[in-house]
Amino acid sequence: MLVLLWVTVTVAAVAGESHEAAVQFLAVGDWGGVPDPPFTTPREMSTATAMGRAATDLGADFVLALGDNFYYEGVQDEWDSRFQETFEQVFTAPGLRQLPWFVLAGNHDHAGNVTAQLAYSHHSPRWHFPHYYYSLRLSLPGTNASARLLVLDTVQLCGGVDDFGVGGAPRGPRDAAAAAAQLAWLRGRLAAARHDRYVLVSGHYPVWSVAEHGPTACLVRLLQPLLRRHRVTAYLCGHDHNLQFLEEGGVGYVVSGAGNFMEETQRHRGAVPPGSLRFFFGAPTSPGGFAHLRLDAHAATVTFLEATGRVLYRVALPPRDL
Ligand SMILES: *[C@@H]1O[C@H](CO)[C@@H](O)[C@H](O)[C@H]1NC(C)=O
Ligand SMILES: *[C@@H]1O[C@H](CO)[C@@H](O)[C@H](O)[C@H]1NC(C)=O
Repeated sequence: MLVLLWVTVTVAAVAGESHEAAVQFLAVGDWGGVPDPPFTTPREMSTATAMGRAATDLGADFVLALGDNFYYEGVQDEWDSRFQETFEQVFTAPGLRQLPWFVLAGNHDHAGNVTAQLAYSHHSPRWHFPHYYYSLRLSLPGTNASARLLVLDTVQLCGGVDDFGVGGAPRGPRDAAAAAAQLAWLRGRLAAARHDRYVLVSGHYPVWSVAEHGPTACLVRLLQPLLRRHRVTAYLCGHDHNLQFLEEGGVGYVVSGAGNFMEETQRHRGAVPPGSLRFFFGAPTSPGGFAHLRLDAHAATVTFLEATGRVLYRVALPPRDL
């Protein structure tokens, strides 16, 4: 099934001079609490508080949720109490309460009912999950320029994983036709984005990562050549439980999977292109972290924040050479 979806985010004017003329959002992955009371973790709670503070201090128009929204087996149906316990009742900070969330599914979501997560969009004014994969058009205020955020389902593309078994590579798509249709959709959207000043692509699995799961061979094969060819600004993902920035072939790779767990291993350091790793943070004592993105006429600036509020790393990516 080839579905073309267009969702336009209308950027509300945000008060304060530092917030002008930019589209800004927070990107958080692997934030999905636990399946038993209290259905959240201290790290999810502190990350939620810090996201609220960042939304107020730096500005944010929306949140991008990078998957593994509900540990460990997603939700059962659209009335599942986990929507309240792990989402609504956790992300309650004043700066956050009114922001829309744009959601994608991770492997743990696919272990449950993703259709229910899509359907929950009709229950919550802030939960936006219109399809397994979709496209957001972002207009940069004060300019005629636009940016494109393409939201993928990398589990549909590459398959699920057995997190508790040996290895950890996705098993291959369960529905090869659906995977092929998504890839065809992505090619079309990338071609249509040729006039966008920035193009961001997001999915749950990393293309490049130095951590526990490492690079996803399926995405290195399917996605990486497309990202380079279309001069995509950055690829954003979760899955590995830390914060990373890598740069390869002119594309920035943002790993933001520290919303609930934090892991420090760099066991796949030798598996990424030499010199590509620019930043890594996975201190096991850390209370979590996330990324803030700011797109303006001049740059796409990625800031990694710890849940303490500490800025860990910042990088400015140039507009595409159109
Ligand atoms: C998944 O969720 C949808 C929406 O709530 C529901 O209609 C469907 O029955 C659920 N599927 C299963 C297998 O429980
Ligand atoms: C936007 O486009 C319009 C029409 O082409 C032009 O008149 C205007 O100056 C442009 N504004 C900016 C900020 O580039």
